[in-house]
Amino acid sequence: MTALLEVEDLRVAYGKIEAVKGISFSVEAGEVVTLIGTNGAGKTTTLRTLSGLLKPVGGQIKFNGKSLKKTPAHDIVSLGLAHSPEGRHIFPRMTIEDNLRLGAFLRSDKAGIEKDIQRAYDLFPILGERRKQAAGTLSGGEQQMLAMGRALMSQPKLLMLDEPSMGLSPIMMQKIMATIAELKSQGMTILLIEQNAQAALSLADHGHVMEIGKIVLSGTGQNLLHDESVRKAYLGED
Ligand SMILES: Nc1ncnc2c1ncn2[C@@H]1O[C@H](COP(=O)(O)OP(=O)(O)O)[C@@H](O)[C@H]1O
Ligand SMILES: [Mg+2]
Repeated sequence: MTALLEVEDLRVAYGKIEAVKGISFSVEAGEVVTLIGTNGAGKTTTLRTLSGLLKPVGGQIKFNGKSLKKTPAHDIVSLGLAHSPEGRHIFPRMTIEDNLRLGAFLRSDKAGIEKDIQRAYDLFPILGERRKQAAGTLSGGEQQMLAMGRALMSQPKLLMLDEPSMGLSPIMMQKIMATIAELKSQGMTILLIEQNAQAALSLADHGHVMEIGKIVLSGTGQNLLHDESVRKAYLGED
């Protein structure tokens, strides 16, 4: 069986500096796969490349059996790859509902869009309660919910989340993680980047540890969670 996403020997550079130095991993349909690693490891660069925002200098990306090498970013969204970016990037002056609609900008099925807005409100009731408010009035955690809801509006086959728990209180972080678990139980395929390795590995089917542009360790979420070197480096144990 071929995986939904296959990344092979991917290399990405900023000028002469190679930020991603030949990484390979795959994501099967229905799985949650996580990339963990310290700041600057190349996680965000990897996601931005998968989204078509950066062009690789080498390697292969196959999504649903199709090479993405020459596919522009908006076509990648249409193919079913959605990206909730690091830092969320919601539009603070637009309403919550209009932010959600933006996530559907490539769709023309009006009834389907309305149905999916309702689904986003079912998943995140606070967004429904405040649908007419400016998105900038939301708390950080609520803005993260909006960023995830917006990504889901493109009806993705694979949802990529870059540091969804960044800067959130422990309670809000738990809420976001619970939502990711709920999406998984609904069958969504997720590629998750997290600084909170404990939370990400607890939820993930597979994980990969990145260090300065390379994958240095891979395994099931449970194996990595109990791996001694991972516990020392990422789970604050000694
Ligand atoms: N726009 C950029 N221009 C130049 N270097 C960059 C840029 N963005 C990231 N980098 C560098 O690429 C490396 C990987 O960064 P990044 O992918 O953001 O890591 P992570 O998300 O794992 O923290 C780092 O050394 C970072 O300084
Ligand atoms: Mg990052």
